[in-house]
Amino acid sequence: MRGQIQFLTDLGLWISSLDQRVARSLSGDLQSPRTPEGVVPLAEEHLSLTFGKKVNRISKIRSISVFATTPQEPATMARAKSASPSFGSLFSGCGGFDLGFVQAGFRCAGAFDLDPVAVENHNKNLGSRAIAWDLRNGLPKDMLTGVDVLVAGPPCQGFSLAGGRRMNDPRNQLLPLAATIAATIRPQVFVAENVAGSKSGDHKSYWESLLGIMKEAGYATREFTCVGTDYGVPQLRKRCLVVAWRTNKNLPDLNGCSAGGVLRDVLGNLDGVSNHDPVQLEPDSRIAKIARRLRPGQKLCNVRQGSRSVHTWDIPEVFGRTNARERQVLEALIRTRRRRRVRSSGDADPVPIDVLDADLGFPAAPFLQTLKTKGFVRERDSLFDLVHTFNGKFRRLEWQRPSYTVDTRFGDPRYFLHPSEERGFSAREAARIQGFPDSFVFSGPTKAQFRMIGNAVPPPMGRAVADFVRLALND
Ligand SMILES: C[S@@+](CC[C@H](N)C(=O)[O-])C[C@H]1O[C@@H](n2cnc3c(N)ncnc32)[C@H](O)[C@@H]1O
Repeated sequence: MRGQIQFLTDLGLWISSLDQRVARSLSGDLQSPRTPEGVVPLAEEHLSLTFGKKVNRISKIRSISVFATTPQEPATMARAKSASPSFGSLFSGCGGFDLGFVQAGFRCAGAFDLDPVAVENHNKNLGSRAIAWDLRNGLPKDMLTGVDVLVAGPPCQGFSLAGGRRMNDPRNQLLPLAATIAATIRPQVFVAENVAGSKSGDHKSYWESLLGIMKEAGYATREFTCVGTDYGVPQLRKRCLVVAWRTNKNLPDLNGCSAGGVLRDVLGNLDGVSNHDPVQLEPDSRIAKIARRLRPGQKLCNVRQGSRSVHTWDIPEVFGRTNARERQVLEALIRTRRRRRVRSSGDADPVPIDVLDADLGFPAAPFLQTLKTKGFVRERDSLFDLVHTFNGKFRRLEWQRPSYTVDTRFGDPRYFLHPSEERGFSAREAARIQGFPDSFVFSGPTKAQFRMIGNAVPPPMGRAVADFVRLALND
């Protein structure tokens, strides 16, 4: 059977859709079996093939991916359409969002992401629909035409409150770009998701640009904020969604689907499960010494007080000894640096010595000198501050609570610690907290596995969104 063949280069260059002449000229160099016609074998799979001289001559590239789809009779397609609506996915990652749509009965017509490892994982787990592609070039010609739904999860790093939030981070442009592509494809429904930071401060202009493009294209829009704990995962992950539709349907509110539970609910029975290779900390390492001082619910943090923050001066075996008076000065610094604000950025400022003296009721000067020598305090322009803030590092999670947001650093014990073992989390543990089933197997370097898992929309959240989106589709 012969179907549509499309050639995409690994450099993100579109060559051609069905062009039998080109296909035949390439076939002589294909490192794969040939069909009787002498062209690319047609199957529902994604092949990576290396070509020889002929291709080099045509396009100055070294390798090409061939994406082949088996054609269907019109009647079969119509039946499939009514039974299972189709969706396309932009910035698909390994397919967390997409898995939710598939679980809800949608059919993936194509998924696009720049990262070849994510694409490989998508294809292995979701049935060979993903293509490595730089969406700054728009979609490859004729792709995703006629899909019922388009979903998009553009990168969030430029918006994340945990990152630098550079207003002119080029990745921010990918949010409105998703809408531009949607306005061209014109699905019945378009869904985009991002972090809460994409709707705050000046960065909101990118989100508003996306909304403007969809409204201009004749779509109604609604916005929602979803928290993982209301969508079946034990995680405080918050995501903002826009649903845009052009079907004249009335949409209700998007409400949570089920309680997410706590860490204990998802981290049992892990022996022998794929992607679960826990790495214990070296007992004599600096990280292990810090980790041993942290109980569940605590973090290493010099800039907050209270039982949940452990300070560096509470861990003398790593950071050095201090006396009681020095610790009083350090505590006074924590209080006063946030009380007396000068700059408009950040949440604290360095402190002049008279403010410290007044807070302490004794002269801070001699102790500030020794604390400087010991590396706890720094001085600039006669203002004093803590050397290490450490806010947000070494958080030890709790069995009886949901997890913090699983981000791309979740496997790093310097950020997140297992509730009861001296180690960070395995990729499978991260995937469980994200609601991936164990049957979804991650491949590639460990760092890439955590990147894909941390980037993903939790599949149960994706599924709830898919069920909601179905309400907007024409019958
Ligand atoms: C937040 S992640 C998407 C996660 C995905 N929605 C999921 O649920 O698994 C953003 C993705 O955008 C991809 N990306 C970044 N720049 C891109 C570009 N120019 N073209 C295509 N994909 C890009 C990244 O590789 C990353 O996988």
